Amino acid sequence: MSIFEVRAELANLKNIAVIGCSGAIGKALVEVLISRFPDARIYGFSRAASLHSLEDKTDKYQEARIDYDDEESIAKCADLAAHTGPLDLVIVATGILHQGEITPEKSLRELSAEKMMALYQANCITPSLLAKHFIPQLNKQSTSGFAALSARVGSISDNGLGGWYAYRASKAALNMVIKNAGIETARRNKSAIIVGLHPGTVDSDLSKPFQANVPAGKLFCPLDSANYLLDTLLTLTPNQTGKCFAWDGQEIAP
Ligand SMILES: NC(=O)c1ccc[n+]([C@@H]2O[C@H](COP(=O)([O-])OP(=O)(O)OC[C@H]3O[C@@H](n4cnc5c(N)ncnc54)[C@H](OP(=O)(O)O)[C@@H]3O)[C@@H](O)[C@H]2O)c1
Repeated sequence: MSIFEVRAELANLKNIAVIGCSGAIGKALVEVLISRFPDARIYGFSRAASLHSLEDKTDKYQEARIDYDDEESIAKCADLAAHTGPLDLVIVATGILHQGEITPEKSLRELSAEKMMALYQANCITPSLLAKHFIPQLNKQSTSGFAALSARVGSISDNGLGGWYAYRASKAALNMVIKNAGIETARRNKSAIIVGLHPGTVDSDLSKPFQANVPAGKLFCPLDSANYLLDTLLTLTPNQTGKCFAWDGQEIAP
């Protein structure tokens, strides 16, 4: 039995941070965490704080503004979230597929440096900087987790359709950062679980332009996805660190 297997699962959640709490899945994650862990202190971070009134529902929830383009802001938010104690769970719910003029490429002809850089920035660089500042704040005494929302389409071996160059590549790069961070973190914090999560296809601004192609019954509402993601997280142990899991608990091959 490895040293990891004797540790308890991720269940004792006292301090939680959700980054990207204005997004459909981020907001649903906050709601689900508040209802499933009413005694936990939960911090929500978003580019525009206080977008919704969850703070009214519980004094255990606090929202603060974060600027993903300013590492100082990211570092301050990590310190704020951990100021009463180490973090038991951090979920990064940020990411883009399209934004303004940027739309996913069907062909190499549509690829551009501008699109590639925007998607790498949002889907890989931002979560990497969040990992840099939030992972050191994870609890070392009991099982703790850092999860970033990735996507099944970031799996190279699962890619049978092609297209969406910048999105797929940026999520594959994110998965590599998660793998690396998992290896490094295991040396210092044997209680930590660092994973990527695929939320399923979820009704949100991100998926809206592509929902016509989704088979009936396969489009989750954000709250269902958030509950599935939390169920998945709660089954994981530190020896699964560095991997990517889908909403149904299945591991996604790299
Ligand atoms: N919806 C799906 O079907 C689906 C499927 C697979 C994977 N995912 C992944 O799930 C995550 C959340 O998606 P969602 O469906 O909840 O999308 P959403 O409702 O559009 O929310 C987008 C999120 O990304 C953040 N964001 C927006 N622009 C950004 C930028 N330029 N740089 C960094 N962050 C930015 C927002 O953060 P603020 O709160 O700070 O505004 C918000 O939390 C993404 O990583 C996405 O790739 C979604």
